[in-house]
Amino acid sequence: MNTYYIETYGCQMNVYDSEIIAAILQSEGLEEVDTPEKADLVLLNTCSVRDLAEQKIHTRLGQLRVIQESTNPDMKMGVVGCMAQNLKKDILRKKPYVNFILGPDSYRHLPAILKSGNIPKRVIDTRLSSLELYDGLFPARHEGINAWISISRGCDKFCTYCIVPYTRGRERSRKPESILEEAKRAVQKGFVEITLLGQNVNSYRSSTGGFPNLLRQLATIEGLLRIRYTSPHPQDVSDDLIAVHKDLNPRVCNHIHLPLQSGSNAVLNAMNRTYTREHYLKLVEKIRTAVPDMAITTDMIVGFPGETEKDYEDTLDIMKQVRFDAAFMFKYSPRPGTKAAKMDDDVPDDEKSDRLNRLIRLQYEHTLEKNRFLIGKEVEILVEKESKKRSSDMMGRTSTNKIVVFPALHYKPKDLITRTITDAQGVTLMSREL
Ligand code: 5AD
Ligand code: SF4
Repeated sequence: MNTYYIETYGCQMNVYDSEIIAAILQSEGLEEVDTPEKADLVLLNTCSVRDLAEQKIHTRLGQLRVIQESTNPDMKMGVVGCMAQNLKKDILRKKPYVNFILGPDSYRHLPAILKSGNIPKRVIDTRLSSLELYDGLFPARHEGINAWISISRGCDKFCTYCIVPYTRGRERSRKPESILEEAKRAVQKGFVEITLLGQNVNSYRSSTGGFPNLLRQLATIEGLLRIRYTSPHPQDVSDDLIAVHKDLNPRVCNHIHLPLQSGSNAVLNAMNRTYTREHYLKLVEKIRTAVPDMAITTDMIVGFPGETEKDYEDTLDIMKQVRFDAAFMFKYSPRPGTKAAKMDDDVPDDEKSDRLNRLIRLQYEHTLEKNRFLIGKEVEILVEKESKKRSSDMMGRTSTNKIVVFPALHYKPKDLITRTITDAQGVTLMSREL
């Protein structure tokens, strides 16, 4: 067993986990390759958040089976991550070619599995731990601008639609020293930005203080140009967190991804989101009063059980009031085992699609409006790389997490530059020479 290939699905937490897995595999002497055809070991790091994410994995496993049969007969396969639990039965019954299944808290078992020489025919470990934080393991990251750093794992919020508390278990926070150490190492390796990750990143707790305090400590690291985090829960956005954005602006970036999910109090209540639309609107006002140029983005679900046209209109209405910079929008997808899955999924699929399309159209107008507002204004850009469309252009990001394309001139990746926005088309901002 000399080479591995990992494919990652789902959220940034999974991207981070894949880097932890890569570190474990590399310490066992394996080298990364860029296609499954070349790999002795192929891992799929899976997501369960919506049905579509799970379907993708089933399709991909079928394709990998074909590669194994046609070009790479010695290839071993592992399914890891959030779908492990759910896939257990299916894989045992129908996919004998999968050699092992590991849940998100079981990656430390990899060396033992690999050491057995011939990977055993079957290993399944989907137990969840209330302790595992992968402390002491430094993720094997590809070079780049941003390093993901997980500061907590699991979730105790139990939103009724959400599978995460079941796939990732109870919430636990890493020690600040360990997070600081990891951030310093990332900077030493050349990363200039970090994004802190947690299912509810701002419920982070430690004996020496909460999330705002952690941000303040991280902001003292020399050479660290930008700090981001995702995703906070609206219930836990404290005045102190807002003060951190104000005090450490723009080092702690002017962007908050604040999942709202619905604009209807009845639906929010049925989702167990623990806040009302009024509370959310007040929070937005507080944030914008403290930091006027803060970008606010969100996640929305349409077609939750019981969502009436009136509830949906409340969603459209709150979107118009807040005017998010961007939004991820989804059709509700029942996840077996959650509370909502026991409710009557009574919004027909074509109605869900219609509500989603209307929401997407509305958000597109808001995104354009927000971006056009920046035309003629100066923004600070962290240069990332050559633009995909034209090699004479480069792309970078504003502190508000918007992509800007500009002439390459003398710029290098990781430069922090200031330029004037000259145009806004769709989601991308342009900064041509004036
Ligand atoms: N159906 C649809 N969307 C969901 N999300 C989470 N669970 C579901 C579900 N069952 C969305 C939420 C969350 C984002 C990561 O995915 O909007 O914030
Ligand atoms: Fe998908 Fe949620 Fe797991 Fe991330 S934590 S991979 S979004 S199910």
